Amino acid sequence: MPAYPPILPRPRHLTPREGQFTFTAQTALLADEAAEGVAAFLRDNLARVAGIRLMPGNSSGNRVEFRLDEGLAALGEEGYRLEVSPQRILARAPAPRGLFYALQTLRQLLPVEIYSPTLQPGIEWCVPCVEIEDRPRFSWRGAMLDVARHFMPLEFIFQWIDLLALHKMNRFHWHLTDDQGWRIEIKKYPRLTEVGAWRKQTMVGHFDGQLEGLVFDGIPHGGFYTQEEIRRVVEYARARFVQVVPEIEMPGHSQAAIAAYPYLGNTGEAVEVSQVWGIHEHVFNVEERTFQFLTDVLEEVLDLFPGAFIHVGGDECPKKEWRESPSAQARMRELGLKNEDELQSWFIRRIDRFLTEQGRRLIGWDEILEGGLAENAAVMSWRGEEGGIAAANAGHDVVMAPYTFTYLDYYQSEDRAREPLAIGGYLPLEKVYLYDPLPAAIAPDQAHHVLGTQAQLWTEYIATPQHCQYMAFPRLCALAETAWLPPEQKDLADFKRRLRTHLRRLDVLGVAYRRPDDPD
Ligand code: ACM
Repeated sequence: MPAYPPILPRPRHLTPREGQFTFTAQTALLADEAAEGVAAFLRDNLARVAGIRLMPGNSSGNRVEFRLDEGLAALGEEGYRLEVSPQRILARAPAPRGLFYALQTLRQLLPVEIYSPTLQPGIEWCVPCVEIEDRPRFSWRGAMLDVARHFMPLEFIFQWIDLLALHKMNRFHWHLTDDQGWRIEIKKYPRLTEVGAWRKQTMVGHFDGQLEGLVFDGIPHGGFYTQEEIRRVVEYARARFVQVVPEIEMPGHSQAAIAAYPYLGNTGEAVEVSQVWGIHEHVFNVEERTFQFLTDVLEEVLDLFPGAFIHVGGDECPKKEWRESPSAQARMRELGLKNEDELQSWFIRRIDRFLTEQGRRLIGWDEILEGGLAENAAVMSWRGEEGGIAAANAGHDVVMAPYTFTYLDYYQSEDRAREPLAIGGYLPLEKVYLYDPLPAAIAPDQAHHVLGTQAQLWTEYIATPQHCQYMAFPRLCALAETAWLPPEQKDLADFKRRLRTHLRRLDVLGVAYRRPDDPD
């Protein structure tokens, strides 16, 4: 029996066959018109690494075909079939995105050098014969990247999207605003990036909640993405079937915006873009002017990001300023609200109404449940699974993102002294792999509300792309498989076996991943 090929995430059904397909200068490439974009990725890839020019007219040798096949509709939009025989590679799917995943699988059947940016002479470009039928368990397979705490260069954003696509992940949650930086150009409010994108310096070491005695690095930090750059990112992601979900934090985690426009705050006092980590008391006020600001900002955001979901944060909003603010208290009385949780809920509902009117869906961290959840809102459950369970059982869509299983800023080893400084916690590769995003406490008839799961890469303690790669990989490989495969098909030992080859792919791609502790 031929060996099981090291595909990651593992396909649902795979039957190895005898023999192999070998790419040569005579190999033909045929694609339906709607599959042309996907076929072009293969054509460009083989031209770059193998110097092989796949052409439709090549006919004396073997051939690759990308075909749309409505007969496979039962596989869903993201499913595909891939059959490899010595004479023919046939990829079929009901939709182009399924063909894109067939292509990702095909690349993983080729030698790992297929991922090289340069010509690799002397390699036989062969694919073992197989029959594969595949489709994902969940429709939301994502990763969040925080570019607010540390700005990440555009090239890394493109690489991040490439790495998601390679793992058949389809959501890039882009955390664009926070207390320590505002990273998205908004034409109507230029001070958001003139002021809000820059902090004077950054605290050094681990933040333990004490402001006294902190040491700062004295180095200005900042940066932002222009609207032109964001359009390029969104288009790059679209071509790879990745939806970009922007996050604009409100009402908390908003100090950088308040630094740019003090009228958005509760105290009238000037604040700076924050230089420290942790939860900040300066939050948006609840004045009409602030809602005007937020809807103006969101209008530009909606114009840039065509995907259905818009993330509005909603987490960790201290209520101290609202309790002390006469105008926030007057607003509560006027609306008949009992407490500040209800005021936050009212705040999010207003934004939800705006987004719904624009044909979009609001998603927020699970604090948006407190004080009552807006009608159409979806919940990202981070403080554990409880928020997700409650929301799904109440008929809301949820994305499971519990810190206990999906926070990639946590330590990867218990031997902290040997690791770069991290926020805390301990999340080994195995724990990510064994996570099941569908909790048993969700009633079977509500299980469809669990859209899927995603990883979180918060960057308080992560200042460079290389460090991001170290924290994200290989744990993101494990999350990708968790999001793709049903639990009964997951097998940790088999994952680790396939991961050995997969890490060589990441080597070829120049990804600075963390080597697993057990290299066997
Ligand atoms: C979060 O970690 N504050 C969502």
